[in-house]
Amino acid sequence: MLYRRLGRTDLRVSELGFGAARGYDQDDFPALVHAILDAGINFIDTATGYGDSELALGRALQGHDEILVETKYCPYDSYRTDATYEGSPEALVASAEESLRRLRRDHLDVLLGHGMRTRETLDRFMADGCYEAMVRLRDQGKVRFIGISELSEADGTHEVLQRAVPTGAFDVVMLTLNFLLQTAAESVLPLCRKHDVGAVVMMPLNQPSKDSGLVSVPAALECIRRHVAAGNLPAEPPWTEPNLLDFLQPYSIPAAGLRYVLSHEVSTCCVGMRSPARLQENLQVLDPPYLDPERKARLESLFGGIRSQER
Ligand SMILES: NC(=O)c1ccc[n+]([C@@H]2O[C@H](COP(=O)([O-])OP(=O)(O)OC[C@H]3O[C@@H](n4cnc5c(N)ncnc54)[C@H](OP(=O)(O)O)[C@@H]3O)[C@@H](O)[C@H]2O)c1
Repeated sequence: MLYRRLGRTDLRVSELGFGAARGYDQDDFPALVHAILDAGINFIDTATGYGDSELALGRALQGHDEILVETKYCPYDSYRTDATYEGSPEALVASAEESLRRLRRDHLDVLLGHGMRTRETLDRFMADGCYEAMVRLRDQGKVRFIGISELSEADGTHEVLQRAVPTGAFDVVMLTLNFLLQTAAESVLPLCRKHDVGAVVMMPLNQPSKDSGLVSVPAALECIRRHVAAGNLPAEPPWTEPNLLDFLQPYSIPAAGLRYVLSHEVSTCCVGMRSPARLQENLQVLDPPYLDPERKARLESLFGGIRSQER
């Protein structure tokens, strides 16, 4: 496992991270977590809103306080793109305290404002006491580092992070980057470098469903078909051809997807995985430079113009 610097936190994080939004309800979750630790993964992303993920991690990670856990406070009434902002400093502090209890820890390594979806609600978060509450938790040692994640379904061009990163207010941001939504590579990552902010990638496989996502050729072609239908890609060859992605061989679609992300200057790429077998597949991609310039350039010329996320 290789480790990268998480911006100004100076933490060294495994380039492959674990996104614990799925699979925590399985009986074999502790075995999965231990396989993940054995592989050298030291960064795990969770949230108060991911069912019992924090509780399950708290149990599975007992005795492993060296593993870095990132969790989140959601200041909206749902995860919908049109959710209502309802953040308050009291709710933020109560949420962080609950996270500490569920995770069985005396500090949170990273606390994020979850899914900040508009510039206007980011401004409210900064002004209504929520941000100050995060800073206070950091000053008290209950949280080591603070940040926000975006909601890329509502903000495919990362307007929120483009505003937030240069303020210097945050140590870490969580952003979507995958080969069907490449916009962060040109907009957010250069800002993270400039302001020394840790860049944690989410949805590297575009948060796949059974039918659509970067997990197989048919699922990737279905996602591309949805982009064509939405007018994000031309309704003409090569985008409409069944052999569109053949140039990625011998890599599988998920391998190419993770390689695409890791070929960027990101701190860690958090992928969801529900089995040790899946983990073993994904460990195979960890060989710099991850993706050759020809395949990367072809992905950029085919999909670099996409400005909104389709799933
Ligand atoms: N706004 C936010 O803050 C936000 C939003 C979304 C996600 N996140 C975070 O980012 C993390 C990653 O997102 P995600 O899990 O939704 O999406 P993802 O990482 O893009 O995709 C995870 C899915 O891909 C499948 N997969 C992984 N490796 C594979 C492989 N080699 N071959 C085939 N399928 C493979 C997994 O299948 P199996 O389950 O079958 O193993 C899992 O269902 C989340 O866990 C969460 O922590 C944050």
